[in-house]
Amino acid sequence: MTTLTWSHACSVGVRAMDDQHGILMDTLNELRTAVVSGQGREQLSELLDRLIEFTRMHYCGEERLLEENGFPGLAQHRAAHQRLLAQMLEAAHRLQYGEGVEMGSLLELLRDGYVEHTEGSDQEYGPWLNERGVY
Ligand SMILES: [Fe+2]
Ligand SMILES: [Fe+2]
Repeated sequence: MTTLTWSHACSVGVRAMDDQHGILMDTLNELRTAVVSGQGREQLSELLDRLIEFTRMHYCGEERLLEENGFPGLAQHRAAHQRLLAQMLEAAHRLQYGEGVEMGSLLELLRDGYVEHTEGSDQEYGPWLNERGVY
C-alpha cells in the first residue's frame, strides 16, 4: 500500500468532515509506516484500535449532521458505516489474537474501505448540506 495523499477528490465540501477525513487518512498512513518499519503486533493493534475509535467518532458526527439536515440517504449511509466498522473490528480481533494476519492485505482492506467510502458515498451528502448552508 502506498501513502495516501489528499486531493480534490477527497473533499466533500464540508470543512468539519474534511478535517476528520484528513485525520483518518493520517492515522491510516501512520499504521502503514508502522507496518513497513516492522513494528510488533501489540503496537499495530494499538494503532488499529485508535483508527477504529476515531472512525467511530467520525461516523457518529457525520450521521448526526446528516440527521440534523434531513439527508434522504441517511439510513443507507448509516448501514454502510456499520458494515465498514464491522469489517475493521473483525480485522482488529484477528490481529489481536494473532490469527495469521497478513498485514499487507489488512492495510489494503482498510485503505480501500476508507477511499471507496470517502470518495464515493460521502460525496453524495456534500451538495445537500451545502444547499442548507453547511460548508
Ligand atoms: Fe466520512
Ligand atoms: Fe460516511
